[in-house]
Formats: sequence, structure tokens, C-alpha cells
Amino acid sequence: MRFKPFELERYFAKYEFSAKYLLSSSDCDGLLQSDVLDLADAQSRELWDNLTLGYTESGGHPLLKDEIAKMYQGITPDDVLTVVPEEGIYLALNCILKSGDHVICTFPGYQSLYEIAEGIGCEVTKWELNEARGWALDLDFLKSQIKSNTKLLVVNFPHNPTGYTPTLLEFQEIMDIAREHNIYVLSDEMYRYMEFDAADRLPSASEVYENAVSLFGVSKALGLAGLRVGWVTTKNKELLSRMVTYKDFTTICGSAPSEILALIALRNSELIVSRNLDTIKTNLGLLDTFFEGQDLFSWIKPRAGSIAFPRINGNRSSLAFCETLVAETGIMLLPSTVYGFGDNHFRLGFGRKNMPEVLDKFSEYLKA
Ligand SMILES: Cc1ncc(COP(=O)(O)O)c(C=O)c1O
Repeated sequence: MRFKPFELERYFAKYEFSAKYLLSSSDCDGLLQSDVLDLADAQSRELWDNLTLGYTESGGHPLLKDEIAKMYQGITPDDVLTVVPEEGIYLALNCILKSGDHVICTFPGYQSLYEIAEGIGCEVTKWELNEARGWALDLDFLKSQIKSNTKLLVVNFPHNPTGYTPTLLEFQEIMDIAREHNIYVLSDEMYRYMEFDAADRLPSASEVYENAVSLFGVSKALGLAGLRVGWVTTKNKELLSRMVTYKDFTTICGSAPSEILALIALRNSELIVSRNLDTIKTNLGLLDTFFEGQDLFSWIKPRAGSIAFPRINGNRSSLAFCETLVAETGIMLLPSTVYGFGDNHFRLGFGRKNMPEVLDKFSEYLKA
């Protein structure tokens, strides 16, 4: 195979549908299809009721693209290509990179963001978040790593798995560095709209930098991962056209029912996201209390998203801890080994309504 196995996805494949309690999921609770349909306006209800299950427009349903563009400043429907979220990463990397290019990517992170570049034959420099500084990024490191063949910078804010998000000034500086050196940016924004304080929401990279591709979708903040609907946005027409052409070799077009359900959800996104954020904020309060009362873990409170990356103190193996936990209690956590980031952290998810119940079970286990 061209790529190494996607360790996180393999771990999820092992436990996601067999473990009794999920405490590491990154998405919010999946919505019921009937709840989404209840939100439909007359036009989208009509589209749903009379839907033909044939092929769809390759670039995405025009109404869906309109709705997507409305979420951005200065992005038009012509700057949008609908994709399966993970596919967006694949398309962008394959359309930007060739063997021998140099790529800088935030790390730890969602494996495909750098693995595909390595599979293409690129040299990848990992730009590590600094735990001692609250998972902050060192911009001087970024500047020092740029070489004549650096083609792409890959960033992911809000960040999986730490929940870190830079300040607006830092973000602007990152974009300025990329522009100054004429480097493309792939900005994975899958956790956007999950900022605990809306003032922390960064612009989309595709709004502010002409050679940036941004990725977003309905999987996380909207709790609709099963629709498999996402999109890339970019003002770089030539790059967008390359991605459109490449998509003919991956999925050709989106799923007809998913497009209409995503359209309905986006037309009601404020309501759906605010409900999910309420759950997240309640859960975060409980996690604060949980972490304050113990010395087994070190907790850096995230600033956005639905996941965090606590450390297990005392140099205990995270993999052994997670595997024992799931075997003895049915609670699934995600060890940092699946991120290729040592064996001392685990990913915790707090986007689900049953988190308080699962956290209680986790506390009982730790006490015992
Ligand atoms: C940072 C990041 N990017 C992309 C994806 C891919 O999204 P999807 O699973 O909806 O294809 C994920 C999913 O977990 C993610 O965390």
C-alpha cells in the first residue's frame, strides 16, 4: 500500500461499534434523520419528497453550494467544491504536491494530513504543538523550517486532538508567512464553529489567503458525520479546477439524499450548532471538576472543539491504560500512540450528551 495504515481509524474500527461507552469521539451526537426533516422549509421539503436517486452534480448541488458560500466572507458558490471531508484532504494534497516537495504540517494531528504527503514522496516537517506552553505553536520554528522547495503548509485549527486554536494575530502571521514565501496552505477547519467563545473564531484561511484551501463539513459541529458531506473552498481557480478533475477518480459526485439533508441542516445551522455547544459547555464544566480533583492526569483545557488531549502522569503507558479500560469497563478512550505521539496522552471527547454518565463510570473505575 502507498500509505501507512491510518492508526486512529483502525483503532476506531476495532472499538467504535463494540465498546459500550464512547469517551473519545470527536463528533457531536448524530441527529435523527426525522429531526433534520422536521427543520425543512417548504423548498427543501419539496426537494426531499421528490428526490431522484440518480447521479448528482459533480461540484455539488447548487443550492447546497449557495448555502455553504453564505458561511464565508468573500467566498462565492464558484469557490466551493463539495467532497466527503476526508476526500477533501486527499484531493487537495494530490493536486498541490508532487514527489520531492517539502511540506510543513502541524503535529500531532489527523494522520491523513501528513501521511498522504509522505505517500506522494514528499519530505514532511512536523510542526509540533508545545504542551508546556498550553499546546501553543512556535512561529519562529515555522519560519526557520521553510526551504526553497517548501510547497505547502498544513494547519488544523481548532486542533485535533488538543483543542488548541491560535489567536487571530498568530493566525494572520501564519498566513502572512505563507504568502511571503508563496506557499500553499491546506487549512483543515473541521472543528470550526465549535469555539467556546465565538470571539475566538478565526477567519477561514480561504477567505484571507488566495492560495489557501479550507476544509469544512457537517460531521462535527452539526453532528451529521453519517451524511459524509464536506467541502473545500478556495479562491485559487486553477487549483479548484484541478480538484474538480481529480474528484472524477474518487467519488465523482455526492450522495443525493445526503446533499438535501445537509442543505436543510445548513439552513438551520445556528440552531443545531448552538444546541451542540450547550452540551459541550456543560460537559466541559464537569471535566474541569473531574480533573481538579485528581493528580493522575494533567489537563490543558481546550479553547474550541469537542476533544482534548490529557496527559497520564507518572509515565504510564496510555495504550495499556486505554486497552485495559475498554476491556474492563467498556469505556473507549483513544491512546496517543495512534497519533504517533508517544505513549503518555489520550484523546477525550466531550461532544456527546451521555458524557456525564460515562465520566461517572470512568471516575468509579479510577477510584476502584
Ligand atoms: C481534523 C480532521 N480532519 C478531517 C476529518 C475527516 O472528517 P470525516 O471523518 O467526516 O471524513 C476529521 C475526522 O475526524 C478530522 O478530525
